[in-house]
Amino acid sequence: MPRFDITIAGELNLDLILYGLPQELPPERESLAERMMLTLGSSSAIVAHNLAALGTRVGFISRIGDDLLGQMAVERIEDAQVDVSKLHRSAGAATGLTVILQKESGRQIITYLGTIAELIFDDLDLEYLVDARHFHFSSYYLQRGLRPRVADLFRELKHAGLTISLDTNDDPDDSWDGSLEQVLPYVDVFLPNAREARKIARVDDLEAAVRHLSKSVPVLVVKLGAKGALAQRGNERLTSPPVAVHAIDPVGAGDSFNAGFLAQYVRGADLGTCLVSGNYAGAFSTTRAGGTEAFRDREYVTKFFPSTLTAPAWK
Ligand SMILES: Nc1ncnc2c1ncn2[C@@H]1O[C@H](COP(=O)(O)OP(=O)(O)O)[C@@H](O)[C@H]1O
Ligand SMILES: [Mg+2]
Repeated sequence: MPRFDITIAGELNLDLILYGLPQELPPERESLAERMMLTLGSSSAIVAHNLAALGTRVGFISRIGDDLLGQMAVERIEDAQVDVSKLHRSAGAATGLTVILQKESGRQIITYLGTIAELIFDDLDLEYLVDARHFHFSSYYLQRGLRPRVADLFRELKHAGLTISLDTNDDPDDSWDGSLEQVLPYVDVFLPNAREARKIARVDDLEAAVRHLSKSVPVLVVKLGAKGALAQRGNERLTSPPVAVHAIDPVGAGDSFNAGFLAQYVRGADLGTCLVSGNYAGAFSTTRAGGTEAFRDREYVTKFFPSTLTAPAWK
């Protein structure tokens, strides 16, 4: 049996989330936020954290700076029992940081890349990464150091027999460059949200985007926010309704969905069960601040999730 269920190589940083902001933020004025939360951020780390919280064995390679923000991020992910024995620390460098302004008109998200862009292919211990059933990759457009070699990495992992999932997340350049075409042939599960699916397929219509993208991957999963999610596997379409919750914070819902979906996928569950599990995890995340706060509360996890979705079959 491999050491891990899932390995991940990616970003590890905090989110600073400010809530209750005035609609306008005039320059040179002091504006006030009603609440704030400094919590684990970054898609890769949120997926890793929440997978582990759901009982999945996770190995995580990342690069941080030698600062307090990086240290806090590591502690959070270690608390969840994610293995970080292959973590790199850059002396004198700053760990990345995302600042999220939660406004009624929508979120504004600003990321300082810092060490996010510094993780490179040569940092990756391939022997460690292949000691798993599955590999997940997030934040394709932020991981600028790794991006040129993602196809090489995926090729090696596939060769070693792992299945692979990808969530690009947003592209800050909004260019959605074509290099993804070299990467998708290695991907078993592609996990964009609806907006990203349309951007990557370069069409406005979601159905057209699904048709287009599902030709490149065995399983396409599209996250639909408060509407749940859909999956396209060849000609087969599955839809899964959202789990009804009182949502207070959408930050990290998509990453939590990935964790819920993949926790079942690596257990060999059918696609419908993977979607239900993804919807549970996405909805669960929205009930507390940030992407991992709900998942840190073990009792709350046990109460919210059906026991069939949290108990690993082999435990
Ligand atoms: N208001 C909500 N109620 C219930 N589930 C939600 C809600 N918002 C998000 N989710 C869940 O989280 C998932 C991811 O949310 P979405 O906003 O589509 O992704 P992203 O965070 O990548 O933009 C959805 O597919 C759904 O399962
Ligand atoms: Mg996302």
